[in-house]
Order: sequence, then structure tokens, then C-alpha cells
Amino acid sequence: MRINPETVERIKQTADIVEVVGDFVSLKKKGANYSACCPFHNEKTPSFNVNPVRQIYKCFGCGAAGDSIKFVMDIDGVGYGEALRYLADKYNIEIEQEEVTDEEALRQNERESLYIILNFAKNFYVQQLHESDEGQAVGLSYFKERGFTGEIRKKFELGYSLDTWDAFSKVALEKGYSSQLLEKAGLLIHKEGSQTAGYDRFRGRVIFPIHNVAGKVIAFGARILKSDKSKAANQPKYLNSPETEVYHKSDVLYGIFQAKNAIRQLDHCYLVEGYTDVISLNQGGIENVVASSGTSLTVEQIRLIGRFTPNVTILYDGDIAGIKAALRGLDLVLEEGLNVSIVLFPDGDDPDSYVRKVGAEAFKAYLKNNSKDFITFKTEMLLQDAGNDPFRLAAVIGEVVNSIVKIPDAIKRQVFFHRTSEMMKVDEQMLITEGNKLLRKLHTQKPQERAPRQAQAPESPADLDALFSGGPFSESNEPPTDFFAPETGHTETPQRSKLYYQEEAFIRLLVVHGTRELEPTITVCQYVLSEIEGIDFKDTIFHHLLVLFRENFNRNQVLPTDYFLHHHEPEIRNLTIDWLANKYELSELWSEKYEIFVPFETDVLDKTAFINILRLKKAFIEEKMKVCLQQAVHAKTEEEQTAIMSEFMYYKGISMAAAKELGSVIG
Ligand code: CTP
Ligand code: MN
Repeated sequence: MRINPETVERIKQTADIVEVVGDFVSLKKKGANYSACCPFHNEKTPSFNVNPVRQIYKCFGCGAAGDSIKFVMDIDGVGYGEALRYLADKYNIEIEQEEVTDEEALRQNERESLYIILNFAKNFYVQQLHESDEGQAVGLSYFKERGFTGEIRKKFELGYSLDTWDAFSKVALEKGYSSQLLEKAGLLIHKEGSQTAGYDRFRGRVIFPIHNVAGKVIAFGARILKSDKSKAANQPKYLNSPETEVYHKSDVLYGIFQAKNAIRQLDHCYLVEGYTDVISLNQGGIENVVASSGTSLTVEQIRLIGRFTPNVTILYDGDIAGIKAALRGLDLVLEEGLNVSIVLFPDGDDPDSYVRKVGAEAFKAYLKNNSKDFITFKTEMLLQDAGNDPFRLAAVIGEVVNSIVKIPDAIKRQVFFHRTSEMMKVDEQMLITEGNKLLRKLHTQKPQERAPRQAQAPESPADLDALFSGGPFSESNEPPTDFFAPETGHTETPQRSKLYYQEEAFIRLLVVHGTRELEPTITVCQYVLSEIEGIDFKDTIFHHLLVLFRENFNRNQVLPTDYFLHHHEPEIRNLTIDWLANKYELSELWSEKYEIFVPFETDVLDKTAFINILRLKKAFIEEKMKVCLQQAVHAKTEEEQTAIMSEFMYYKGISMAAAKELGSVIG
């Protein structure tokens, strides 16, 4: 099933990076670009950038980068072909599909085959629901009884599996899908050692397909029907797909595909327990709802929600004991930086039954009036339980503080200390002190767990600052002294020398603006190359690029940005994406820390070029000064020392002149 090159080209031309990424994460416009919290790693401040002009994305936290196709491949965990198919599907671009044979299906990457067979199964179940006699009589009438309209059935692709042993597998095998594949997809059960062909997992049940965030069917939930009493007695109400190559229960939220746009738009997500809760709420016009499908919430599920919004309201049914048990797990949600609220339903009702009972409008009003933030909810609940028992009250305080310290945002923590101190009638300062103690413990005992999960910049071999203990950046490695000081949100730890960044700024200027003309016939490339004649770069890649520019320039050529964007070395491609994505606009700190001048540089390009040259020269000289100092320490004779020091003073003179010039240019 090869896709022909023209189609590939059409897909590439049509797919828009902002739209493609926007299906998965909530993008905010920021100047000419868009930014968001990165979907590939866990973070609280956005370092994920999308550049619509270049059609690329780049995360400054974890380094993920690429184009639309790469994004789909990574977010969906699919191969190149499947990513192309996804995009073709999204943009209604037709792909010539050949008939699937067993042989061909086998040749494909297993995951892709699983998606195909699961999609085939879904279509089969949908068809059975509407077209078979049994489906209509049993399945369809059941859905209608529950009030699920045709529109909703279609949206969730609900289906029905016939009550026979092989209705599905017979058709699938005939179609050329192998029994191994059916088994791997969790659709066929084959007892080990058995000579028979196996039997369908789902029989005589209504089917709830489970989609991943991109809309692919990855599993099924199947509900037995009440009418069949004899069967219901010894069979579980819901039967779900087993874990497969494409279905990891703990990573999945039911309804996320159908809900994601609404979640993004409303900046809010409702979390319920079951399939029917999700569907009934949709029926009532509440679309920003997903289900954990009966399991306790996992970190992966929380992060999935966090990609679209930080605001979650959990709708609980059930008894108080169950809720208390669930509350303990919720600290996890706080740790992920999400704002959690809770709504309880009257005894005996779940969101599904309640919305059907009172209607959509009253239901929405109920949510509004009964929603409480998690900390307040928990405090109230524990206080009620403790009554006037002082020992139990003390335990309540401990538990509440324990939850509050899980909130990463210092300002929010402070708000909750204030509020709960009033609720528990204790001194606010006492709570803060308790919280501080806990935080210190967390920070000292498990520093690696508390550290931001961000990729560290690899160390540069040419790290000159490392030559001198306590270099200029060492202060940034100190642990925070006051945990309640508002956080700056910027946790980058500089790992590289000033020279590295200056070389980078320089090469970036060449790569990004090299072809631009400063004045007629004088390009940025020509200007800067002439200015730094005789200077070599320390960093291997930067040096390689510099040499490349020089060689080409000698042949009267200036390499364009696209050359580097499509370079065969991934490292160079990634650096280019990085530079294009305008990292320098993100952090004003950079200009102070690394002495790199970073204005909106296309306006003031010549000035930028000039300043970068001066800075590079200065850094170059400073490096020589450092070497002199090192040599001076080890000098054997006084003459040697004097010679070294005079060389040092010579450099110092140049450095000061450069500094002075810089000062006047910038000033
Ligand atoms: N669940 C499951 N397996 C079970 C029971 C429950 O996977 N054996 C999951 C399903 O996702 C189900 C959710 O837990 O939707 C909640 O279970 P329950 O409240 O029993 O089902 P409802 O969704 O309320 O279904 P119904 O209203 O049809 O009884
Ligand atoms: Mn129910």
C-alpha cells in the first residue's frame, strides 16, 4: 500500500502545521508564532513553539522538532505512512488504496495493521447495529431506550456485536486479515493449544469504540444488555479490549477525541466515570467531557487533559467511602499543576442518570452551584468527619497541608493556606510553616523527582567557565531559599560557556539572515565573514558551519536557510529549526546573561551583525586572557611570568576597547 509521490507532495503542501498541531494542543498566538505547553514532555510553562511561515514546530524544553508529518508520527506513535494517511484523511485528500490482502496486511508495520483492523471492526459493529435484524431489535432499541439519538450514535460510532461465536472473525478472515492479527487486536480469543480457529471476544453486546486523541479506534468497551438475565448473571457488565500494542488503558481517556475541541475552547474539562456518562452529557449539549472508564486516574490521563486545559472538574457519583478513597489519588492531579474541582451527585445518581432526570439546563446549573475546588472540598469533608476530636483535627491539618504543598504554583498555595486556615480555624502562618517543612523535605530527599522533567543541554567540551571554579553561572545552581517566593517560571540552567552562545548567535545570524542584503550587493554573510577573518570557532558544529559558509562564499555563493533546514544531518536541521523559531524573543534574560544582543533583528540587522561581531571578538579575547592566567600560575620563571602578563594586558586593552565600543553602540 504505497502512497504515490504526487499524493505525498499534495499532503505536504496542504497540511498546515498550526491546524495539525492545533488538533492536539491548545495553541496561543505569540507574535508571528504560536506557543503551547509541550505535548511531548511534562511542563507548566509553554516552551513549545509553532512557526507558521516555516511550517515547523520546536520545543525548547525537550528538543522535539519537525514538520507536520513528524508531529503526527510522534504524537500518535505511528510510522511515516500512517502519518501521511492521517493527514490525507484530515484534508480529504484521496489516496489510492489497494485491496488489503493478508500478505500485504502482514507486511505492514504491526501498529498500522492494528489500526486498520480495529477500524474495520468498528465499521462492522456500526453496520450490524443498523442493518442486521438482531442489531436493530436488541442493540438499537437499547440505545434508543437510553435516549441516544442517531447523531450521538454516529459521533461516538456506537455499534453492536451479534450474539454468535464468529460473526465478526468470519468476515474479517474472509477479507484477508490474519487470525494472529485479530488476536493481537484483542478481537479474537484463541485458547493456547486449541486446534479451533478461536472465537469473537465481543458477542451479543453493544459496542463503545474507544478512540485515541487523533480519532483512531484503539479498543472497544462492550456492554451486556439487561434484558438477557441468564447471561448477565455470570458475565461482567462491561467487557473491554485487553491491553494491546495500540491500547494502553492507563494512557487513555474515553471521549477525548470527541471532546478535545470543546475542552480547548471552553478551557475546561469534565471528568466522569463511564461511557454512558460521557454520551449522556453530550446528548445534553455538554461536550467537554471525558471518562476514566472505571479505573482510578493515572498520571498519563491527567497529562492528556493537561494538554488541552489546566481546569478539570471531576463529577463523582457513589458513596462517601469511595469518594474518600478517590480523593487520596487526587494529589497527583495537583502535582501536575491542574486546577481541580469536584461535584458530587445525589446518592444513587450518576451524571448519566442525573442529566436524564433533570434535563440539560438544570444539570448545568447543578454543576455550577455544586462545584468546589478540591482543597476546599477535601478540607470540608475531613472536618465533618473529625467532629470535635482534637487528635483527628490535627490529622486533618496534616492532610490538608500535605495536599496544598503538592500544588506547584506558589501563589495558589498561598491562597489555599489562607482559605483553609480560616476553615480549620488555625493560624495561617502555622500552616505555612508546616508546609515549608514538608516542602524542604521533598526538595532535599528526592531532588531528582522534584526536578523539572526537561532535557538538559549537553555539556560543551569547550566550556571555558569550567576552568574557573565558581564561574559566572554557578549561582543558578543554588537551591531555592524561600519556597514561597513567587516563581519566575523560568528554570533553564545554563550549562554552556558564554563563548558557546556567542558562537551560536553568530552562526545563527549566518544561517537565518545570511542572504539578506545590508546595503545593495552586500549580504550579511559577506559582512560578517569579512569581519571575523582569522577567527575559528570552538564548537565543532559551529566551526563546521562557519567553514561551509567560507568555502561557499569563496565561490560567490551564500547558502540559504532552506539548505540547513533540509540538511542531511539531523543535528543541523534541528539547530536551524531552533534558530528560526525565534527562541531569542522568548527570553529577555538571554541578552543579559550571555551578552547576546537580540532585538527584533530583521529591523536592525546591520547593528545586530556588528554587535555580534564585537561580542564574539571580545569573548575570543577573553578566552585568551583566561589561558594567560592559567599559564601565569604555572610559570616557572619570573621572565616567563612577566611575558605572560604583558600578553594578558595586551588582550585586556583590546577587550576594554571592545567593551567600550559595545557600550556606545547599545547605549
Ligand atoms: N467498567 C468497566 N468494566 C466493568 C464495569 C465498569 O470497564 N465491568 C467501566 C466502564 O467504563 C463503565 C464505568 O466503569 O462505563 C462505570 O461503571 P458503571 O457505573 O457500572 O457503568 P455505567 O457507565 O453507569 O453504565 P450503565 O449506566 O449502562 O450501567
Ligand atoms: Mn449508569
